[in-house]
Amino acid sequence: MGFKIAVAGATGNVGREMLNILSERGFPADEVVALASARSQGTEVSFGDKTLKVQNLENYDFSDTDICLMSAGGTVSQKYSPKIGAQGCVVIDNSSAWRYDSEVPLIVPEVNPDAIAGFRKKNIIANPNCSTAQLVVTLKPLHDRATIKRVVVSTYQSVSGAGKEGMDELFQQTRAVFVADPVESKKFTKRIAFNVIPHIDSFMEDGYTKEEWKVLAETKKMLDPKIKVTCTAVRVPVFIGHSESVNIEFEKEITADEAREILREAPGCQVIDKHENGGYITPYESAGEDATYISRIREDATVENGLNMWVVSDNLRKGAALNAIQIAELLVARGLIKAKKQAA
Ligand code: A2P
Repeated sequence: MGFKIAVAGATGNVGREMLNILSERGFPADEVVALASARSQGTEVSFGDKTLKVQNLENYDFSDTDICLMSAGGTVSQKYSPKIGAQGCVVIDNSSAWRYDSEVPLIVPEVNPDAIAGFRKKNIIANPNCSTAQLVVTLKPLHDRATIKRVVVSTYQSVSGAGKEGMDELFQQTRAVFVADPVESKKFTKRIAFNVIPHIDSFMEDGYTKEEWKVLAETKKMLDPKIKVTCTAVRVPVFIGHSESVNIEFEKEITADEAREILREAPGCQVIDKHENGGYITPYESAGEDATYISRIREDATVENGLNMWVVSDNLRKGAALNAIQIAELLVARGLIKAKKQAA
């Protein structure tokens, strides 16, 4: 017997991608249910060649559900995840609500799979921030080889990271510019069409944004608390795919050629790095793909043992839905979860 899986937030960008990936990867599920708010109750979403009727999360009973893939925002997760966990259903949550809780593992399977062991305390496992996921997949094999001291990352984040409304806003504003209509900003603080905005999430007291803080807090939690990380997070007018300019300072010597070889072998990574026109990856090309792509690997002569690189991934997949499903696969592969129907 297979598992019963719920996708909460199934009408959203990430929820839809979760359903696609569950179907694509043939996750061993006997039953998949789609949940969202009361607003969407009765509407339909695609799951492989089937359609699922959306049910209301608020009154859904999780007692016979094994895993809930949750992507309905932090407030919804804070309200529902503990109740779902208490019903013996493991929540894999895509919001930031539980990531920094010491009783909740924060997992990228290529990076810290063993940390999953502690999930039973709350029955919640956190999925990292989209920018952090692709960053740590890249840093992990390099850290193992040459020990990272410090990372300086600047992100170029697509509008799909801000949900369906973010994508709609870029589309509407672009259209408005072409037909000379007034450009309205609702989701973003300034116009995003033909512009970039150096502000994602709320401002903190020290002048950094929460998005920037997440990258450093999550890298430390998953990879190594000793690594120093500083980040500037920027929203760009791209629909899908986050890019990052990453500068890394290592303790030990490592050349660009060595880094290229290490990353070629690393799980989840794909190196596209030819020193010629078009010999690198752009976010547009990463959309719909599972890999984290690394290009423009080069030595930074301004520091000892420094490298620069360009890291791109589909933020809805490795940055969210794919990583969540890889966590579910890890639970199954390690025998950490048994289907309730089989256990009964
Ligand atoms: P709904 O479409 O019913 O509002 P995105 O981040 O792409 O905007 O998607 C957010 C997802 O979270 C949607 O599926 C949305 O459902 C869901 N959601 C938002 N608020 C709630 C809520 N209070 N209860 C359940 N699902 C919610």
